[in-house]
Amino acid sequence: MDPLDDLFEFLRFPSVSANSQFKSQVEACADWLKERLQRAGLLAERCATAGNPIVLARNEHKPDRKTVLIYGHYDVQPPDPLDLWESPPFEPVVKNGKIYARGSTDNKGQILAHILGVESAIKERGDLPVNVIFLIEGEEEVGSPNLEGFLKENQSKCAADVIAVSDTGMVAPGVPTLTYGLRGILCLEIRLRGPAADLHSGIFGGSVANPATVLSRLIAQLHDNSGRVAIPGFYDRVLPLNDWERDLWAKLPGSEQSWLSITGSPRLFGEAGYSFLEHVWARPTAEVNGFASGYQGEGPKTIIPSRAMTKLSFRLVPEQDPFELRPIIVRFLRQRCPDSVEMEIMEQQAGKPYLVKPDSRFAKAAQRALNETFQKPVAFIREGGSIPIIQSFTDVLGIDTLLLGLALPDARAHSPNENFPIENYQAGIRLNRKLLEQLAEA
Ligand code: BES
Ligand code: MN
Repeated sequence: MDPLDDLFEFLRFPSVSANSQFKSQVEACADWLKERLQRAGLLAERCATAGNPIVLARNEHKPDRKTVLIYGHYDVQPPDPLDLWESPPFEPVVKNGKIYARGSTDNKGQILAHILGVESAIKERGDLPVNVIFLIEGEEEVGSPNLEGFLKENQSKCAADVIAVSDTGMVAPGVPTLTYGLRGILCLEIRLRGPAADLHSGIFGGSVANPATVLSRLIAQLHDNSGRVAIPGFYDRVLPLNDWERDLWAKLPGSEQSWLSITGSPRLFGEAGYSFLEHVWARPTAEVNGFASGYQGEGPKTIIPSRAMTKLSFRLVPEQDPFELRPIIVRFLRQRCPDSVEMEIMEQQAGKPYLVKPDSRFAKAAQRALNETFQKPVAFIREGGSIPIIQSFTDVLGIDTLLLGLALPDARAHSPNENFPIENYQAGIRLNRKLLEQLAEA
């Protein structure tokens, strides 16, 4: 079967983990994946969790060789807003050499490149140079709530020398990239309730608090005027950037100009004293991801809304700890909320940041595989995105992770018209095969 047809089949499942409406499609996707791994010559199983199933697969393990665990996820982000897609999100198409579909980059194209790399080695050589374990979950996009528990219960099944993940980016097309750091994340949803129902803003306005105003004031207090997060203690554990990183990153391809054009923002912004890459890769943030209150339709409607809500996320950097910061942030918000509204704070995803030595023997092996595949020097970077389970692999299993991403800066992950170049898919298949050869000798 053509590798592209394989990926198209995988992409047609709307395996959205955030929304329970898609539950049966998520499960069907897990079944497809299990079957695909079996076809690749592996022993595969579907493992139930309290949430979406985890798909595990392995070759026949032999005691005298290294074991590599390959992690990825088959769940995807919601496709919304649907009207901004140029072709339907779950009907993959190729345009200008790129595959357009939700999940094409994040993470179906990248994880399938791993699988097909393994399959090609098995088909041509009859065996792999290493023991492999595929661990592919269906809840990464909702913070992997059941995976850490699964790891604790299945420590021996998941024992490995090193973990390989393609779920990060490349600095530019054709530039092999090894990511040695990720930001962590902490998500909260805040709901404010004022009057029992929307009120006439003339009859009642001025006598009761407006939840939208109260929430706006709370959100405004998250930052100082320079854009730094204003929560006391927030920066206490932030590791300063190393000089070698700043020097290395300053030489990378990519410019403020290209960042401007990728984002489409009128201009860049950020904490003084740091470059745009340093803002994203090594500094923490507080962001509003969603905000709703009041009348959204055409024309005026003079009300005091009964409710207001916001979804917040904080991106964290080494050594910040989401579980230590969560009560600090919750207290900060509660202390500043007037008793003229009722406040409910819902604690959502939390995941630790990750930082690993970029020159371990396994990282050097990965570097050789990257270099051989792309015939260019490897860029060493950190990234702004989060993969909450990566630090748990170290905490629970004691194993470090190699992050060899294939996503381009304009992949539009989580956004309409997500895409993955066929070229990266094919390079990924070759890369993953070489990676196992190099790791076998590391
Ligand atoms: N693949 C991304 C993470 C990523 C993207 C890392 C780009 C580095 C560069 C992953 O699927 C993701 O989106 N994670 C979420 C986690 C959250 C929902 C808990 C994220 O970062 O928002
Ligand atoms: Mn994602």
